[in-house]
Amino acid sequence: MEFSEIVQQRRSVKSYDPDKTISDAELRELFDEVVLSPSSFNLQNWTFIAVKDSAMKKKLKEAAWGQSQVKDCSAAILVCGKLDAYQDAPKIYKDAPKEVQEGLLPMINNFYEGKEQLQRDEAIRSASLAAMTLMYGATSRGWATGPMIGFDPEAVSRLLKLTPNLIPVMIVVLGRQKDPPRPRSYRHPVEKVVRLNTLDGPGLTGMPHPPNKPDPAHMPAGA
Ligand SMILES: Cc1cc2nc3c(=O)[nH]c(=O)nc-3n(C[C@H](O)[C@H](O)[C@H](O)COP(=O)(O)O)c2cc1C
Repeated sequence: MEFSEIVQQRRSVKSYDPDKTISDAELRELFDEVVLSPSSFNLQNWTFIAVKDSAMKKKLKEAAWGQSQVKDCSAAILVCGKLDAYQDAPKIYKDAPKEVQEGLLPMINNFYEGKEQLQRDEAIRSASLAAMTLMYGATSRGWATGPMIGFDPEAVSRLLKLTPNLIPVMIVVLGRQKDPPRPRSYRHPVEKVVRLNTLDGPGLTGMPHPPNKPDPAHMPAGA
C-alpha cells in the first residue's frame, strides 16, 4: 500500500468485530517497526502493554468511560511514556566510540535530570510518535485502529500495574472494523494551518495535489 493510501485509509475506528483475534507474531511484526520511531537522543521513551485477554479488556473498558471498542478490539494497546528514559543512555550508547560517550552521556544527564516537566513532555512526545507508527503500520496490514485518551489514567495505571516511572499516554485499540467508516470529519484548511516563515506570514497556497478536489479559489480565472 502506498504511504498516502495508508494515510487516507487510517480512521479512528470505534466498532470492532469481537471475535477477531491477533496473534503475538502479528503484533511482533508490527512492533518491530514501531520501535524504529524517532525519539530525542534515541532514548526510546516508550513501553507498550498489549491487552488481548478478554477479562482484562473488559476491566480496561470500565476504566475507559465504558467505551465498547476497548472490549471488542483484538488488542487494546496502552502506549506508555517513560519518564526516566534518560537513565537508559549508558546502555543505548554502550557501543558508541568512547569520545562520543564521554561527550554525550553527561550532556543527556544534565539535560533531563531533575526536570520533571521536560521528562514528561519528552515521554509524551516520543510515545505519541510511536503510537502514530503503530497506527500507520497496523493500517498497512489491514487492521483498523483508534487512539484514545478517554480513560482514567490512575485506574488504568493500577489495572495494568504501571511502575511510577511510566505514564499512560494513550490507548490504541486495534482490530477488525465492524461497521463501514463514517465520512471523514472536518479538517481545517491547509491554507489556515500552515504559515510561511512566521506565524503572521502568508498561508500556504498552491494547487492541491490530485486526487484532491481542486479548490475553485485556486483555479485560474475563467477555468
Ligand atoms: C490523543 C487522542 C485521543 C483520542 N481519544 C478518543 C477517545 O477516547 N474516544 C474516541 O472515540 N476517540 C478518540 N480519539 C479519536 C478522535 O476523535 C479522532 O481522531 C478525530 O475525530 C479524527 O477522526 P479520524 O481519526 O477518523 O480522522 C482520540 C484521538 C486522539 C489523537
